[in-house]
Amino acid sequence: MNNFKFRNPTKILFGKDQIENLATEIPANSKVLMLYGGGSIKKNGIYDNVKKALSAFDVVEFGGIPANPEYSVLLDALKVIKDKKIDFLLAVGGGSVIDGTKFLAAAAEYEGETPWNLMTDRKPVTSAMPFATVLTLPATGSEMNSGSVITREETKEKLAVGGPGLFPLFSILDPTVVASIPQRQLANGIADSFTHVLEQYMTYPSGASLQDRFAESVLKTLIEVAPEIMKNPSDYKAASNFMWCCTMALNGLLQQGVPTDWAVHAMGHELTALYGIDHARTLAILASNHYRYNFETKKEKLAQYAERVWNVTAGSTEEKAKIGIAKTDEFFKSLGIDIKLSDYTEDYSETGNIVSKRFTERGWLGLGEHKNLTPNDAKKIVEMSY
Ligand code: NZQ
Ligand code: ZN
Repeated sequence: MNNFKFRNPTKILFGKDQIENLATEIPANSKVLMLYGGGSIKKNGIYDNVKKALSAFDVVEFGGIPANPEYSVLLDALKVIKDKKIDFLLAVGGGSVIDGTKFLAAAAEYEGETPWNLMTDRKPVTSAMPFATVLTLPATGSEMNSGSVITREETKEKLAVGGPGLFPLFSILDPTVVASIPQRQLANGIADSFTHVLEQYMTYPSGASLQDRFAESVLKTLIEVAPEIMKNPSDYKAASNFMWCCTMALNGLLQQGVPTDWAVHAMGHELTALYGIDHARTLAILASNHYRYNFETKKEKLAQYAERVWNVTAGSTEEKAKIGIAKTDEFFKSLGIDIKLSDYTEDYSETGNIVSKRFTERGWLGLGEHKNLTPNDAKKIVEMSY
């Protein structure tokens, strides 16, 4: 196992009726900006519950943060923060609203002229306005991590920022919110969290037995709850397990002491930036091809995954590893997710070249657990995914 330092300061309030606790968790006398997305919270009652819980606070609202949170919209929110002298941010939404809020928390304290430089500088954010979240869509783990992914339509970019200043103060995880989530987003949440685990697991054996078993347990639980939650999102038992899996998949615990990859996400973000494909679906398009392309360096973990997660007992390491890859594709398809780029766009003939060019320009010359996946390798993996 590798050395590590691990600190996650986010307090989790998990379960039914936890929204009521907002009043005691937000620092007294805060001037709160409540941020949300396109309006789902007004249809499912979450908006009313949050407003009720915040009745003792001075609250300003900013709605309309789109999926794949857009920089230009966030600049409007930043103006509200400054004009209204806001000192606490409350995200009520999924990964997009939470990531947008994290960006704003950093931008509010950023001293440079152009907040977009927060995304391009790639410096860890150490200081930010305090913020918290009410999660409405289990998927990204953003509610308990310090990462944020922001889109800029003008330049067709989608970039990540993070740092110790970007952990939420607290997050409210009430699984009853899952009941109102449409099938497409449920499938996305399962596929995204599943791939988060894979990115921290599908590398090479590193003697981290407990970390491996943590990862495998999240994968197995997601496989178990996926059909239940897709069939009946009001099933509280399934919803609560689904929600906690998504948080645990990317709250930093799984990556401690082990090598990690993240190349599938790096390539996937380009597909969202270029074509607007849902984040999770880009991962389903790329993941198995990434494993096929890097078969030799990943086959031991692929075989372990096949054995322990999919109960594949017969065959050589190579045979088991191949079955593990096929099972991954089948799992995504069982969620109703298409796994080829051509299922989403007709305009794909140059995608591999574009991704390779962008990685080269950004100096992303060696991705993956061995830091040797070149832009040309990324091009080939994207081309395998057409
Ligand atoms: O905008 P509203 O009207 O609220 O509708 C949203 C949105 O259209 C809807 N929704 C959310 N909760 C709902 C609901 N509809 C009904 N009932 C509810 N309870 O779902 C749609 C998608 O929401 P979004 O927040 O975009 O989805 P998700 O949570 O999957 O977030 C995706 C974003 O997170 C980034 C992705 O790149 C993408 O931009 N990621 C963030 C990460 C992080 N911060 O750690 C890691 C991930 O790998 C990912 O990159
Ligand atoms: Zn993801």
